[in-house]
Order: sequence, then structure tokens, then C-alpha cells
Amino acid sequence: MSKSNDPAIFWDEKFDRTDYRYGTEPNRFVADVLPGLVDDGARVLCVGDGEGRNGVWCAGQGFDTTSLEPSAVGIKKIEALAADRDVDISTIHDKMPSEQVDDEYFDALVLTYVHAPEPMRKEIHGASIKALKPGGVVVLEAFTPAQRRNGRTSGGPPDEALMFSAELLRHDFEGLDFEVLSEETVQLDEGDGHRGPADVVRMIARK
Ligand SMILES: C[S@@+](CC[C@H](N)C(=O)[O-])C[C@H]1O[C@@H](n2cnc3c(N)ncnc32)[C@H](O)[C@@H]1O
Repeated sequence: MSKSNDPAIFWDEKFDRTDYRYGTEPNRFVADVLPGLVDDGARVLCVGDGEGRNGVWCAGQGFDTTSLEPSAVGIKKIEALAADRDVDISTIHDKMPSEQVDDEYFDALVLTYVHAPEPMRKEIHGASIKALKPGGVVVLEAFTPAQRRNGRTSGGPPDEALMFSAELLRHDFEGLDFEVLSEETVQLDEGDGHRGPADVVRMIARK
């Protein structure tokens, strides 16, 4: 695997800074919708949780939360943020697909901005579906190709081919019921990494 294709190496370098690249507050869409989708104490897996902004927030809501992250630097920052907020969180230092993730175990999966080239993207999404209980829900937000076409500077990979369209997600998550699947222009304010107008796709899909 080349260096740029190994998420552990690539993201170790990005997260090796004292502050949090995407801030320490949860993604707005996740915070707005997740509590209304699952019961109190639900088991939540945050896939590619980065520096833990979503996972630590989920743990703070009382969800039984696991953060999975390939970057060792990310894992350390997740644990530091959880300690700072005095919340319990489980961490898995691995990438998806992971043998450490049980099938049909989680009530909800959170994926924000986990962009990856094929075939890794399909592996991540396929493994996410497997990890979900029947009736469980995936909450996802990511950049669309319009982010590059519109010359946005609010984040995302340089290569348009790494972005996700609603159509791509409909295909990757085929078999789930789509409660939300929409391409939108939103205003991001998530640390230095995501700030300004952005073209994103938002998805809520139930197994
Ligand atoms: C743009 S960052 C977003 C981090 C976090 N989700 C957030 O929104 O703050 C992309 C994340 O995806 C993770 N990632 C990339 N490939 C992955 C894989 N195969 N399995 C799990 N996570 C992956 C990276 O390590 C990185 O933390």
C-alpha cells in the first residue's frame, strides 16, 4: 500500500498538531439527528472517528460508544478528549473492515467525511452494513464532487473521484431504507479543516 493510500500514515501526519483539525464539537448533522433515531444507551460505532469529536460527543449523550480509527495519533487524541470530558469510550485502533467489529452489534454507525478510493470505500461501507443490527441506522455526511467543481476551499480531498454522490451512496448501501439522502450546500464551521460553504451529501439509512 502506498503511503497516500495507507490511512494510518496519511492521517497520523494530519492529526499531529496540538489543536483538533475538525474541532472538538460534533458534526452538526450527527448531533441534530442521532438522538432522535436511537434509544438511550444505544450502541454507536463511529467509523474513522479521527480525533474523536463525534465519538466523544456520543459518549457524552449516554450512548455506548466505540470509536474506530486507523491513525494512532487520532486514537491518542480521542482518548485525551474523552478524559478531558470525563466520558467513557471504547476505541479500536484499526481500519474498516476490522475483525474487532462484531457483526450485527451496533444500533447506529456514524461516518463523517470518511473518503476513500475504491475498493477501500466499498469495503468500509460493506463492513459498516455488516456491523449494523437489523433496524439499526447509518448516519453519514461527506463531500460531493460539486465541492471541487465549485472551487470550494472548505475541505475535502483534492481528487473529485474521492467524493461521494447520493447516487454512489444509494448503490453502496443498497438494501437499506433511505430516510434521508440529499445533496446540499451547507455552511461548515468544524475547526480549520472544514470551514465555509460546502457541497455535501447527507444520509440516514436503516437496515
Ligand atoms: C477527514 S477525516 C474525518 C474524521 C472524522 N470522521 C471527523 O469527521 O472528524 C477522515 C477519517 O477517515 C479515516 N479513515 C480512512 N480510511 C479508513 C478506513 N479504511 N477505515 C476507517 N477509517 C478510515 C481516517 O483515518 C480519518 O480519521
